[in-house]
Amino acid sequence: MRTIKIFDTTLRDGEQSPGASMNVDEKIQIARQLVKMGVDIIEAGFPVASPGDFEAVKKIAGEVGGATIAGLARAREEDIKRAWEAIRGAQKKRIHTFHSTSDIHLKYQFRVSREEALKRSVEMVKYARSLVEDVEFSPMDATRTDVSYLIEVVMAVIAAGASTVNIPDTVGYTAPDEFGRLIRAVKDKIGDTAVISVHCHNDLGLAVANSLSAILNGAGQVECTINGIGERAGNCSMEEIVMNLVTRKDFYKAKTNIKTKQIIRTSRLLTRITGIQVQPNKAIVGANAFAHESGIHQDGLLKEKLTYEIMKPADIGLKETELVLGKHSGRHAFKTRIKELGYELEPAGLETAFEKFKRLADQKKDIFDEDIEALISEGVGRIPETYGIVDLSIISGIGIKPTAALKLNVKGKVVDSVGHGDGPVDAVYRAIVAVTRTKSVLTKFEVKSITGGTDALGEVLVSLEEGGRKARGQGADTDIIVAAARAYVNALNKLAAKKLPQEMDK
Ligand code: KIV
Ligand code: ZN
Repeated sequence: MRTIKIFDTTLRDGEQSPGASMNVDEKIQIARQLVKMGVDIIEAGFPVASPGDFEAVKKIAGEVGGATIAGLARAREEDIKRAWEAIRGAQKKRIHTFHSTSDIHLKYQFRVSREEALKRSVEMVKYARSLVEDVEFSPMDATRTDVSYLIEVVMAVIAAGASTVNIPDTVGYTAPDEFGRLIRAVKDKIGDTAVISVHCHNDLGLAVANSLSAILNGAGQVECTINGIGERAGNCSMEEIVMNLVTRKDFYKAKTNIKTKQIIRTSRLLTRITGIQVQPNKAIVGANAFAHESGIHQDGLLKEKLTYEIMKPADIGLKETELVLGKHSGRHAFKTRIKELGYELEPAGLETAFEKFKRLADQKKDIFDEDIEALISEGVGRIPETYGIVDLSIISGIGIKPTAALKLNVKGKVVDSVGHGDGPVDAVYRAIVAVTRTKSVLTKFEVKSITGGTDALGEVLVSLEEGGRKARGQGADTDIIVAAARAYVNALNKLAAKKLPQEMDK
């Protein structure tokens, strides 16, 4: 059976989703989890795009082994040089360079002829090859490119040293049959001289279908993202492509190196880090993907799972929500469970998470994996604590003006504050604003329950913006108002960490 390489671009194309920007620590967490999952190539970023992107790719290249680390570069010498500087510390490394080939892009955007585009592509592949052995080339907007010109470019870049040629459906325009024919035409010309990769966008909802059609027609690599995040309507979703190949191996006769039991964990980690929720009916990782509501379906399932279940929840790492720890569990058990859940915390972060766990165990009898993940994700980015909640009490109810009394630790000094508001959250937030004198604006406020029951852990996600800087905060507690306070303080800590030192004392 053929093995299809999985090229994950969550940290590059995925990060181009509105609101998906991640800091370096968050990217490292994702990269480590991708390796754990068995991803073959991680596109860690676009190093020339910003100093932050460069740093992230460099750090991932230096710290995350086990997968090839790719850096994206336009077909320009300065981009390729920067990508090389970022990835050079990796054990296995790749430069991915691209140039548009469609007449629409060449004429209106780049104002260069087909001949010039071809010449530049070949020169830049040669330059990249002078730095690294593994070079991938993408003719951008390939699906709107004249087919004979596309094949000419593909053959020329292979002759120049590219070992992977990626055929991107940049604007999500193609259809499965048409894309399959295109990939077959390329395959017939190039044979086994290079791996054909595909990179499909989801503008018409066909990214996964188009990628599967490409696999049937000779593609050996699929570019995809966790939860399908990415530019505009997103990219081909990794979990969907992988589970199609697993579930229908009889039909596709192809496999991947992905450990499918890591799917749900990776999906949730990305959701927590980016704050981008997965729609409930999303295939594979949506909350309802394995929930059967209809009576007829439930009846069939109770008699025989095969009647309505084509995949097992356990295949993607979903268990019947399992009781993991309780009030009497110690540090060791807690640490082991956190490792099993895929998190690596510094000793200080672990201690904070353990304290939170103990507090939760006093309030809530059953503690599930989801509760623990929610608790520790506040510390995922290992942000220094400029502010910390010491104490909080709230009075509210029918006919009572909501009032919050807060003790906040501000850089080591405990300060008291009282806030009155239209509701309890408003009162708490006013108390926090009074102490921190933050100028930030709250741009998003979301509440959800982590597990079921009246003692469920409530999770609050907030987004703040101040002078162009953005931060997302997360807080979890059995008391939703406390969770809201934690989320706000968590976001303020992130904003403070992004400030220049001279701004901090203002
Ligand atoms: O969509 C696209 O064409 C891209 C290229 C850089 C491969 O993301
Ligand atoms: Zn793309």
